[in-house]
Amino acid sequence: MLDRLEQQPPDALLALIKLYDADPRPDKIDLGVGVYRTSEGATPVFGCIKAAEAMLVAEQDSKAYLGPEGDMGFVHALMPHIFGGEDPSQGGRIEGMQTPGGTGAVRLAVALAQRAGVGKVLMGTPSWPNHAQIFGDLGIEMVGFGHAAADGTANMDELRKALRNAGTGDAVLLHGCCHNPTGIDYTNEQWDEIADLLVETGVLPIIDLAYQGLGRGMEEDAYGMRKVLASVPEALVAYSCDKNFGLYRDRVGAVYAMTPDAAQTTAVMSNGHALARANWSMPPDHGAAAVRLALSDDATVKQWLDELDSMRARILQVREKLAASSNAGGVNLAPLGEQNGMFAMLPLSKEQIQKLRDDHGVYMAGSGRINVAGLTMDNIDKFVGALAAVSG
Ligand SMILES: Cc1ncc(COP(=O)(O)O)c(C=O)c1O
Repeated sequence: MLDRLEQQPPDALLALIKLYDADPRPDKIDLGVGVYRTSEGATPVFGCIKAAEAMLVAEQDSKAYLGPEGDMGFVHALMPHIFGGEDPSQGGRIEGMQTPGGTGAVRLAVALAQRAGVGKVLMGTPSWPNHAQIFGDLGIEMVGFGHAAADGTANMDELRKALRNAGTGDAVLLHGCCHNPTGIDYTNEQWDEIADLLVETGVLPIIDLAYQGLGRGMEEDAYGMRKVLASVPEALVAYSCDKNFGLYRDRVGAVYAMTPDAAQTTAVMSNGHALARANWSMPPDHGAAAVRLALSDDATVKQWLDELDSMRARILQVREKLAASSNAGGVNLAPLGEQNGMFAMLPLSKEQIQKLRDDHGVYMAGSGRINVAGLTMDNIDKFVGALAAVSG
């Protein structure tokens, strides 16, 4: 039987890491992999996590099983930061469960929607490639619409059209902030309109919030999600702590459901538990326990928010410098100053991307996506020069 399975292509971004590692040029630039980097090119463990891990080692007295819902102390400790307000659970209307990373959260959110009868998910494209892979694996239809307008802002006409062509029984997947791969987020005014459109059409929102705090700020990055939740009767939120706590390989995430009343939310979560049990049984504990402990102490919360502030400041500094370069050959970098988060899409051909790699040691995804956190004040000029050389 197993000889029916054909060789699958390796993940393109993971293959790019290998090529980059093998390149001996000392001034090579890695803009491929989607992890935050300091100006020294490192992806360090957060200080707040180091402190929480020390607490964890001292305090943890058992590694016995939890349950499919994972560490509920973690799930609840995050809620004030995600949902804000006096009562982040809105009287029990919002509840969550831990998942293996934001990927597990997206997977579970879409599977819950499917279990509830959703047959079709609308999504702006391009998107994080795993979104479409998850839809495909679950066998749920995806209806794509163009996310980016030619001027580097969100294409609201496409979104309006897609939502008005859909209705109850359909879902839409929206990036909460720091859109991957384009960096093009909705403005607050656009989110206000999206919330109204969701109410009008009855389309179920699934909001993927994987980069809270890495765009404009913890509160600012939650604006759209909170606005939608304040407007519609029900929604699903997939959350990742892998970027904003730097826990990538520890796989830390959560999925939250909001319904009109607490009993219904409990019923939704029981379906989440059943789906998790049949998939991964329960999520890995360590990273989520560390986040719970980091969030349990005012000093480590402050340390976390300060660490996020400095990451965000660095990302903005790189974006501003890129934007100030304006035109690099045929590429207009000005819109990058208005966009958010680690990613941006450059309009480059496959040949230009290959030339950047071969002639200049600049590595980026084949789609033209760059991780702006891969640049430093010292190598931006080289990068802009290389862009001009291949696209001029
Ligand atoms: C938009 C988006 N959602 C979800 C994820 C999943 O993150 P995690 O590493 O926590 O699984 C990513 C990761 O790149 C992402 O870009």
